[in-house]
Amino acid sequence: MKKLFLIIVALHVISFVTSELEDANEIEKFCYPEAFKNSRKSCECNNDNAPPWGVRAVKIDCSYKSLKSNELSEVLPLYVDNLDLSWNAMVEIPQFSSDSLRLLNLMHNNISVVGAKNFAKLPNLRELYLSWNSLQILEANSFDQLAHLQVLDLSHNNLHVMAVKMFAPLKVLESLSLSWNRQLNQSQDIQTVDFYQNYGVNMNLSSLRLKACGLNNIILPKEATLQLLDLRRNVLKKIPEHIPQNLEILDLSDNLFETFRKEDTTYIAHVKELYFEDMSSLTKVEQNSFEPLKSLKKVSFLNSRRLSSFDGHAFGEKSNEGYSLRTIIFRGTAMRTFNSTLSPIFTKLTELDLNGLPLHCDCHMRWIKELQLETNGRCFRPSRLKGMLLSNVRSNDLSCDTWPTWVYGLIILGLIILCSGGIYLIVWGLRPNRKVQMRRKVGAGSPYARVTIEPNRQENNYY
Ligand SMILES: *[C@@H]1O[C@H](CO)[C@@H](O)[C@H](O)[C@H]1NC(C)=O
Ligand SMILES: *[C@@H]1O[C@H](CO)[C@@H](O)[C@H](O)[C@H]1NC(C)=O
Ligand SMILES: *[C@@H]1O[C@H](CO)[C@@H](O)[C@H](O)[C@H]1NC(C)=O
Repeated sequence: MKKLFLIIVALHVISFVTSELEDANEIEKFCYPEAFKNSRKSCECNNDNAPPWGVRAVKIDCSYKSLKSNELSEVLPLYVDNLDLSWNAMVEIPQFSSDSLRLLNLMHNNISVVGAKNFAKLPNLRELYLSWNSLQILEANSFDQLAHLQVLDLSHNNLHVMAVKMFAPLKVLESLSLSWNRQLNQSQDIQTVDFYQNYGVNMNLSSLRLKACGLNNIILPKEATLQLLDLRRNVLKKIPEHIPQNLEILDLSDNLFETFRKEDTTYIAHVKELYFEDMSSLTKVEQNSFEPLKSLKKVSFLNSRRLSSFDGHAFGEKSNEGYSLRTIIFRGTAMRTFNSTLSPIFTKLTELDLNGLPLHCDCHMRWIKELQLETNGRCFRPSRLKGMLLSNVRSNDLSCDTWPTWVYGLIILGLIILCSGGIYLIVWGLRPNRKVQMRRKVGAGSPYARVTIEPNRQENNYY
């Protein structure tokens, strides 16, 4: 009896606790801002990612509410962890105060200034997103109080002035994006002095994005532990000389490179993934250019439309040993053929993408077919194989002409002349003999026999 009683009590306690929790969730549904409760501008509050035990973490979604900065109260609800204010009508950063807030999203507003005290009362902020605003100038003290910030996204703004040492307070920053600030190249010394020293960037940063910033050079410390560097869509003509030695992922796509050469690749010896995509001026991959890249696992030339030459000795002349390369993407380039001297490297690949290439399917391509990789490459020449997947073409059809084509032309011309001569002779031989025919056919009974027309005597009688 006692046991049963205890169990019943326990069940009651459990149901009481869960209903309490549900109530709490109910109350929190529209928790902020205080002034707009139960109105169209009220934000949705969720307990979503929080585990049933431990500290509660509230996520507040205020996106698409046409909120202005002065409509938001400074004090945020308790336990707020994540505040999304994207797609609103703010022109300045609202003042907030919260010990728990870890993520603040202010994307897609029209904020033009970051003030010195903007984040003073958010001591635990880890991630700050300010992309897609109208920021032009970042002053020296903009981020002074953000000692724990790990992610800072300033992309898609109009930044052109950044104060010296402005990132210095961000001691544990891991990821920094300044992409799509097209006039950033006007900021003080950005292309000529050490970027880290100049702006006070944390040496342990692991990801730096500088897409579309109009840069023709960048100077980064060799000893920095950076892993990912994104320099897509700038105006670089060569790989920057001063670049972290242990860089693993490098994106140089959509720059002004004309060749892929060893003089450049020596600076990035430890790179594992290299992106050389959409490179509209790139025409060739030079001899020995891959020699320094022994750690490279993946390289992509995707859509480098004019790339048509890949040197047979791109991986060096003698030893093809010690490469880690597993993936090469040639999709959308103008490569027509590949020299079989590359085969020791290519046989180790797990992915070779030849989609959309104008391949010349002759005997020089047999070794590619024998790689047993699905490359999705299709033949463009000769015309009898046009459009066929290289993997579906029979090896015997991958043949090379042993005579030059004009010989075939001559032979065909000769045959045509012979034929027409023959036809002429046959026609000549079958021509009917006129005398024989006349004698035989036009006799007295023939309809073609001579007819004598005599004058009509009756008509003459009238005269
Ligand atoms: C953004 O703010 C600027 C002034 O700082 C103003 O000129 C511009 O029209 C605003 N843009 C939008 C889309 O509201
Ligand atoms: C910055 O980049 C733009 C566009 O690429 C270019 O026109 C301008 O001359 C560059 N300015 C500097 C200072 O490099
Ligand atoms: C292959 O490359 C070598 C060395 O670069 C060259 O001598 C040879 O002509 C090339 N072969 C073809 C078929 O292009």
